[in-house]
Amino acid sequence: MNLIITIDGPAGAGKTTTARGVARELEYRYLDTGALYRALALAVLRAGVTDAFSPEALKAIEGHNVAPRWKDDDMQVLLDGVDVSGEIRSPEVTALVSPLSAVPEVRDVLLEIQREPGQDGALVLDGRDTGSVVFPDADLKIYLNADSRERAGRRRLELRRAGIEKGLDDVLQEIEERDRRDSSRPLAPLTFPDGGVEIDTTGLTIEEQITRIVALARSRGA
Ligand code: DC
Repeated sequence: MNLIITIDGPAGAGKTTTARGVARELEYRYLDTGALYRALALAVLRAGVTDAFSPEALKAIEGHNVAPRWKDDDMQVLLDGVDVSGEIRSPEVTALVSPLSAVPEVRDVLLEIQREPGQDGALVLDGRDTGSVVFPDADLKIYLNADSRERAGRRRLELRRAGIEKGLDDVLQEIEERDRRDSSRPLAPLTFPDGGVEIDTTGLTIEEQITRIVALARSRGA
């Protein structure tokens, strides 16, 4: 059976790496919904706008087209047909995307784009509201969590690999701030999805996380 598997949770819980691994094991496609939000944030930044809540931000989004594309099992994100998968990881995009994702029109624009690849199932997607809003009837909904200090440590390593050095306390503060913002927004907040399964990844390796989710998926017919 071709399942839809959603993986939600706070920043740094390992969602992306885990979701990608689960998709690989099951030979499903992987959709990184955060990347779609990031591509819209990039369009806004390119228009010279840094206030996510300004009318200029919405104007900057109009007329732009964001879409996922799969190449050798890997998802790329296209902005107006051009692959921007690298650019969307910049600190500027990271700073703008969280407030921008609280704008209702932004979420509306991306809803159909996220649903489309799930038409035939066989999809693993990760984000903040993929099990609550995007696919409320998903076959398996995972909520990945981890202690904020551990998440900060992982994010710090990720930044280091990208050539950015930051102290653990700074990264921790940023992660906690982002959690607060993503969880307290009135629209599609980061929340535990109905019928979801929580996995606390503190102390688990990525491989262990993947194995657990694949086992759950198999038990549901994957
Ligand atoms: O997972 P990420 O760091 O790439 O996500 C970037 C931002 O996008 C994050 O601050 C929250 C937002 N986001 C969202 O609101 N809903 C999603 N489904 C995915 C991401």
